[in-house]
Amino acid sequence: MKASRRLVLALALLSVAVVSCVSDVQNQTKSNRGKLAPIQPNKTSELALSMRNLDAELVLALEVLNSGKGVESLTITDHDFLELNPTDSSMLVDGFQSLSMAFSAHVKAFNDRPGTDTYSAVVGGCISCHQRACPGPLERIEKRQWAVIEGK
Ligand code: HEC
Repeated sequence: MKASRRLVLALALLSVAVVSCVSDVQNQTKSNRGKLAPIQPNKTSELALSMRNLDAELVLALEVLNSGKGVESLTITDHDFLELNPTDSSMLVDGFQSLSMAFSAHVKAFNDRPGTDTYSAVVGGCISCHQRACPGPLERIEKRQWAVIEGK
């Protein structure tokens, strides 16, 4: 009885840790059934960490773009995704390299000329890669689109 419960818990934790490309919503539904699944900082891959940082940069950029103040000093970090370890090598799908390079070009264009157009191209780059490599976070990335804020 006790052992089987422990097994269930272990499996539940494992499924959260391994499948970081499932949607946030799915993760939430799972964890709402019991206690919140613990965040596992040690299990976060370099690639996943860079993604979280990028996501935070987008949140900040949106705020600044929306306020219209300090837009010219905005920057987005130009990570070299090819140098970062993923959670699982299956995430490095065919075309990952060219998607990374395209994304990097959008980031450089934004850093040269921060604004809503270049920002939208960056978010477009996030979406292009995620449609191929890791669809889970797409729902969250959609919320980072300038158009979403603009239409509020
Ligand atoms: C070239 C492909 C590519 C691009 C471009 C890309 N991503 Fe990702 N993203 C991935 C992959 C692959 C993972 C899974 C990483 C892992 O688990 O190791 C991921 C994971 C994530 C995650 C989940 C991280 C976690 O905590 O597990 C978020 C959120 C995310 N990306 C947001 C973004 C945002 C926002 C952008 C644009 C600023 C972006 N991504 C651009 C491929 C990409």
